[in-house]
Amino acid sequence: MKLNPARAQRLAVSRSRLLGALLLTLATALPAARAGEIEVLHWWTSGGEARAAQALKASMQAKGHSWKDFAVAGSGGDSAITVLRSRVVSGNAPAAAQIKGPSLQAWAREGVLTSINEVARAERWDELLPQVVSDQMKYRGDYIAVPVNVHRVNWLWVNPAVFARVGAKVPSSWDEFFAAAETLKKAGVIALAHGGQSWQDLTLLETVTLGVGGAEFYRQAFVLREASALNSPTMDKVLSTYKRIKPFTDRNAPGRDWNLATAMVIKGEAAMQLMGDWAKGEFLAAGSLPGKGFICAPAPGTAKSFIFVVDSFAMFKLKNPANSAAQKDLASAVMSPEFQEAFNLSKGSIPVRLGMKMDRFDDCAKASAQEFSTAAKQASLLPSIANGMAAPSSIEWALKDVVSQFWNSDKMSTAEAMKRMVEASRRQ
Ligand code: BGC
Repeated sequence: MKLNPARAQRLAVSRSRLLGALLLTLATALPAARAGEIEVLHWWTSGGEARAAQALKASMQAKGHSWKDFAVAGSGGDSAITVLRSRVVSGNAPAAAQIKGPSLQAWAREGVLTSINEVARAERWDELLPQVVSDQMKYRGDYIAVPVNVHRVNWLWVNPAVFARVGAKVPSSWDEFFAAAETLKKAGVIALAHGGQSWQDLTLLETVTLGVGGAEFYRQAFVLREASALNSPTMDKVLSTYKRIKPFTDRNAPGRDWNLATAMVIKGEAAMQLMGDWAKGEFLAAGSLPGKGFICAPAPGTAKSFIFVVDSFAMFKLKNPANSAAQKDLASAVMSPEFQEAFNLSKGSIPVRLGMKMDRFDDCAKASAQEFSTAAKQASLLPSIANGMAAPSSIEWALKDVVSQFWNSDKMSTAEAMKRMVEASRRQ
């Protein structure tokens, strides 16, 4: 049948309208059918952390999912994990939770985590992650968590203006550290901003252990937890050095949050902080620039070693299929190069995904990336005992307890502390 031109044109218009309408319906219907709710438990509530968490929320919302923030502030995540446990026990787990290190295996053993192998296989995560990381993300060969970043713990954060004012030199050894601290103290400055919470007390001790005892000693003491290292002349020296630091902290340190300690350095109320590079997120969020407002230097005596923390999200079993689909999108988004860059630029850490371009990162992050790969080759890549990477949580808590008591007591001897550390490391 031959149509006249006017009728043919009308038909073409209505066909294209129909197609347009169909596409529109599909476009709106597809995300709606898959849109789920993503509830994520985390403890990223400080300035830099919140900016980083925002990157995750934005990427999930861009996929059409709704974001339910389950943030529990405080104490390096200790409070968050307590809240998580009660939610899981009552059968009301979030989609994902910030869990890391050996705890991932412990949660998986309880049967509450779900496999995200489908996403991991499709995206070839095994090829995109360092093996030390991918091994930790798996339980019996299945991915049950997705890694976000790599933090370096053994950093010294310095306010260069304060150092210049008193004529002190940024230290690279413990002798230089104490020399600078004396000069600062004489000038009436708080040399070291410390947050007296048990996880921060242990974070400080692990850094001193690496600086005084070296990488192999750290491994024997905190990874293998050998009594012959935990109770030894080297540990005695570590503990004495640790206690020598205390007079250079201030009276208000007990109970202080780590980010408030960082704020003291930012404002010039204190000269230094020994803390993981989540502290850098605070400097950046406050508009302070690396090399200008602050300096990052390896903690004294630790230039060639790397104590690492890999933050990750464990994925919980969910009942609602739309939420499960959203959970897979979350896993995929976290591993994407775009997210790895945006998140880590705010968080202070470096991407965990291999082969990422570092050109948008600052010199602290570039140094961290360099040291991470060098340390990996030289077996001086060490998991943080204070930040959930090296031991089952019962042992970590027991060690935090002893170390904190030692830090705060005027009476406990190094011998007593070492004896108690050996006991703590035997906890089940
Ligand atoms: C976590 C970081 C976090 C820091 C302070 C560490 O244990 O790995 O992601 O920023 O605690 O809360």
